[in-house]
Amino acid sequence: MSHPYQAPANLLVNKTILITGAGDGIGAQAAKTYAAHGATCILLGKTVKKLEQIYDAIVSAGGAQPAIVPLDLKGATLRNYQDMAQSIIDQFGALDGLLHNASMLGHLSVFKDIPDTEWLDVMQINVNAAAFMTQALLPALERAKQASVIFTTSSVGRKGRAFWGTYSVSKFATEGMMQVLACEYENRGVRFNCINPGATRTNMRASAYPAEDPKSLKTPADIMPLYLYLMGEDSSKVNGQTLDCQPK
Ligand SMILES: NC(=O)c1ccc[n+]([C@@H]2O[C@H](COP(=O)([O-])OP(=O)(O)OC[C@H]3O[C@@H](n4cnc5c(N)ncnc54)[C@H](OP(=O)(O)O)[C@@H]3O)[C@@H](O)[C@H]2O)c1
Repeated sequence: MSHPYQAPANLLVNKTILITGAGDGIGAQAAKTYAAHGATCILLGKTVKKLEQIYDAIVSAGGAQPAIVPLDLKGATLRNYQDMAQSIIDQFGALDGLLHNASMLGHLSVFKDIPDTEWLDVMQINVNAAAFMTQALLPALERAKQASVIFTTSSVGRKGRAFWGTYSVSKFATEGMMQVLACEYENRGVRFNCINPGATRTNMRASAYPAEDPKSLKTPADIMPLYLYLMGEDSSKVNGQTLDCQPK
């Protein structure tokens, strides 16, 4: 079952929204969906060609011209995020929405065999990058009338699961970060929530479950109602929550 929210067509008009990992999978669909509901999207990702394809898809569907930020979160620093934040303030005045979507799965293995290099990469991309990017973007988010920050979690971020090692730990950290920020910003115009997509037909899912029939899964388009709900003002009272796109 997908979340039942039905968004008005103009839900995100006049809003500027940054999406990480906007070139593929759920992030690409979220960018196209937010643009289709009126947002100006800032597409951040690693592979420029994929970002350009999403840019073209948005423009040819009649959406507002997006911005592209090519950035590999593995090597990005607080300084990169601060420069980006300043450009956003200069160009758009404020940031109304931030979807932390980019993630690295790593290899599924027993905990004792997790390579230290992979542990550090997964934590860098899934946790540190989201933390430092959020720090840098808070001044731009605080300039918005009401801003929404969505972190992306997973069911293994609420209950640890054998072999999901670093990824699982990184999603627990993501939920913790969201809760800390939600408490600090209670009633201050920026709200923070987590979204759990549930099993969704993407490259990441296929690499975790190679034997699974992708057709048995929801597509990124199917799970967009909750992405719209949490980004738009109909959820303005929702803060500090973890919500499921596919509630059981
Ligand atoms: N699919 C599921 O079933 C599922 C279930 C639960 C949670 N999730 C979560 O949902 C989110 C989206 O997952 P997905 O399934 O759509 O994954 P995906 O298809 O693998 O897409 C991940 C996106 O993140 C980007 N990315 C990865 N590493 C990056 C880096 N170092 N710097 C910048 N961008 C980077 C990728 O860019 P490139 O394409 O350029 O590499 C890609 O656009 C993730 O947070 C994931 O943990 C997914």
